[in-house]
Amino acid sequence: MLKEQKSRVGIYRKTKDREYVVDMAPIVVQGETIGAVSVCKSLTEVHSLSQELKKQIEKVTELEKRMKSIYEVKYNFEDIIGEDPELLRVINVAKKTATSDLPILVTGESGTGKELFAQSIHHNSDRTYKPFIPVNCSALPASLMESELFGYADSAFTGAMKGGKAGLFEMAHGGTLFLDEIGDLSYDVQAKILRVLQEGRIRRVGEVKEREVDVRIVAATHRDLRQYVMKNLFRDDLYYRLNVVHLQIPSLRNRKYDIPLISKKLLPANHALSKDVLSFFITYEWPGNVRELRNVIDFAVCMTEGEMIEVQHLPEFLKKYNTLPQQSESSGTLKESMWNAEKDILVEKMKNFGASLDERQKAADLLGVSLATLYNKLKKHN
Ligand SMILES: Nc1ncnc2c1ncn2[C@@H]1O[C@H](COP(=O)(O)OP(=O)(O)OP(=O)(O)O)[C@@H](O)[C@H]1O
Ligand SMILES: [Mg+2]
Repeated sequence: MLKEQKSRVGIYRKTKDREYVVDMAPIVVQGETIGAVSVCKSLTEVHSLSQELKKQIEKVTELEKRMKSIYEVKYNFEDIIGEDPELLRVINVAKKTATSDLPILVTGESGTGKELFAQSIHHNSDRTYKPFIPVNCSALPASLMESELFGYADSAFTGAMKGGKAGLFEMAHGGTLFLDEIGDLSYDVQAKILRVLQEGRIRRVGEVKEREVDVRIVAATHRDLRQYVMKNLFRDDLYYRLNVVHLQIPSLRNRKYDIPLISKKLLPANHALSKDVLSFFITYEWPGNVRELRNVIDFAVCMTEGEMIEVQHLPEFLKKYNTLPQQSESSGTLKESMWNAEKDILVEKMKNFGASLDERQKAADLLGVSLATLYNKLKKHN
């Protein structure tokens, strides 16, 4: 360095077990080197800092993994069991719109699989590697809901977290926010959500600054939102904003032919439903839809010693709905059982109705089929 009169930086040196780096520069006065400066920095500190950095990176990776597993969706479209044409139509619309960023409104009775749809939509969207954040809008009072959704500023209120807190909109950034039970959201919060949807920005409670959020909205409710709009319980502007894609999931009682299929999938291998149980399942109204069917099957499987589920294994509350004539033998294929069950139901229901067109229409309404279908079925079983 002295000979060349050029400074050098970051030269690695090791003396015994001491490691250090040296920066050096000549001191040149009027072309003549009169001395030099050299600064030695110990590597021990650099080492311990890089060790610390490595540890922190491992920690962050671990936390990211855990975060991801919390927000990861479990369900995909393949998990939605059913062959009912209307259900298949709804699944098809959901699949086609999943990859767009359009808001989706999922409606249907309790237990029809609204969350299943919401998760499957996220799974099939371009946002699948980003968070899926579910929010139950009926769980919190309006004041808390606002800070949950939008977060709050540092010391926005007594007991607020230091440094403030991100809301669910911010947490869902890049991903999907699932607004479950949106019908139960207060009018005020509805207005605030509408603002975010229109502007793509949120403001934490108690903060002036706005933050950009990129969030896809999937909303769900078991309520009749149109009715709610008419009664001024739900804002019409938000309703139209959310209702770009509407998935109305049919209830289980309107797709009774899916009952044997779903039961089969939910039963453990080797287990089966007796003919009586299947007949009963087909006549029962299933107010709790697939969730109720799953619970009944889980219970019955626990109660049976063997592999055949009989009426006696069903929960007590259900047995009182079982008005079908009891049959003793429980054999036959699924097709035979369904054929017989359908015949039993028709015979049983038609007892209360005459043969006039008017009476038949009433019977068809009660059975939830069209008049033509009823005539076809009566002819088939005659
Ligand atoms: N078509 C289906 N195939 C298979 N499983 C289903 C189906 N529909 C619902 N389920 C099951 O039923 C249960 C309830 O589903 P989910 O939570 O999606 O219903 P929901 O419509 O959100 O009900 P709620 O209105 O009560 O919140 C879940 O265990 C789900 O796996
Ligand atoms: Mg739900």
